[in-house]
Amino acid sequence: MFCPAKFCILLFAVKFASGLEFEEFIRWKQVAYESIPDASYLTPDFVFPEYAAVPGDDSYIPYNNVPQGVNHYKGRLFITMPRRSPGVPSTLNYIDLKQTKAGDSPRLKSYPNAEINSLRSTLKPGQKRLISVYRTRLDPCHRLWFVDTGMLEYPNNRTQVQRPSIWIMNLLTDEVISRYEVPESIVVEGRGLVSITPDITKGKCDEAYGYIPDLVQPALHVYSLKDNRMWTFRHNYFYFDPQSGDYNIAGQQFQWRDGIFSITLGDENKEGFRDAYFHPLSSTSEFAVSTKVLRNETNARRPHQGEDFKLLGARGKDMESSVHVYDPHTKVLFYAQIALSGIGCWNTQKRFASQNHHLIHQNLQTMIYPSDITVDMDGTLWAMTNSMPVFIYSKLDTNQYNFRVWRQEAGKAIQGTGCAL
Ligand SMILES: *[C@@H]1O[C@H](CO)[C@@H](O)[C@H](O)[C@H]1NC(C)=O
Ligand SMILES: *[C@@H]1O[C@H](CO)[C@@H](O)[C@H](O)[C@H]1NC(C)=O
Repeated sequence: MFCPAKFCILLFAVKFASGLEFEEFIRWKQVAYESIPDASYLTPDFVFPEYAAVPGDDSYIPYNNVPQGVNHYKGRLFITMPRRSPGVPSTLNYIDLKQTKAGDSPRLKSYPNAEINSLRSTLKPGQKRLISVYRTRLDPCHRLWFVDTGMLEYPNNRTQVQRPSIWIMNLLTDEVISRYEVPESIVVEGRGLVSITPDITKGKCDEAYGYIPDLVQPALHVYSLKDNRMWTFRHNYFYFDPQSGDYNIAGQQFQWRDGIFSITLGDENKEGFRDAYFHPLSSTSEFAVSTKVLRNETNARRPHQGEDFKLLGARGKDMESSVHVYDPHTKVLFYAQIALSGIGCWNTQKRFASQNHHLIHQNLQTMIYPSDITVDMDGTLWAMTNSMPVFIYSKLDTNQYNFRVWRQEAGKAIQGTGCAL
């Protein structure tokens, strides 16, 4: 049978996927903020009230607000808005789900408040400020983890306003527990630090580690909360695969060379360690390393990592993934699949082979560029799709929905698919 490769995959997906599709929960044509009145839409550079001293520096340019991360904690849905273009009034935000119903286009509220999120006209650095946050993650100790890259990534004009920093916040009190400035010996600029994966030994909230994939260097940075220190692993498995960096998404053709992009942790073993699954973005390979290796700073200095970093295998053609997440209830890894505009899965109890990877939801119109996927405490998956290649290489149609948050219970999403046991 003749068919172009991509089309064959589509047929395959339609024929075999029978799990419940993800619900298109909320969607925006453009994203608005609770603190900014509607009239501001009429002026291209609305000034965020109260905090901006000089007009223009903290302006709100609706078109430039492209959401990136989504993460749910007890009725609050965290939405991040990295500052990749001017006119983003607030980088870390949330939506109150009690006030939200399916189909809404809710306004964002700053988290924990507007002041922390506001950009000063002088671009003066400040320990109590957030400049740009890509994604947030939760730990079992009711804490929110994220990296502030400290950088304005405006096209052709990147500005490192302040050192990148690792933040841990208490979600019960909304207070900052810890803020750690990433030293210059670890990274010169913050732009590659687009996520952090917390690792907590059961019942020991202070003995926590954070793993940061650095897609630029590429490298894997480890942060120890107890020792308030960082160290860096380097490995050839963190590099992009030159045969996997060509994309054709929503009519845009381009080449990306992003390295290690996502780290997610499997179940804790008897020794108290986990498999850290990771992959570069421009690659279809998946790798793993034990957290026992990562937690030991001495290992980072070894000239050779022996067999400690393992290649699991290749997911298959066009299966490049931005973010993936392990769901402990189903023991399934869920992949945000950028080249296929969909969400895929692999059950970790099955052999890692391309025939055990399945596309469980795909929509070439509405699921353009899944930029984040997380699973909450109840086992519900949340995904963001943000049409980013269209924003970068073409122009978004502001009369259409461009950004969406999807949700589905992990168990239902895989029902009847090859990812169920
Ligand atoms: C670059 O960005 C900085 C800080 O945002 C700004 O002060 C400067 O005017 C910008 N330069 C250009 C050429 O846009
Ligand atoms: C850390 O790794 C080094 C080898 O790089 C090893 O000699 C040492 O025993 C390890 N420490 C722990 C606590 O496992």
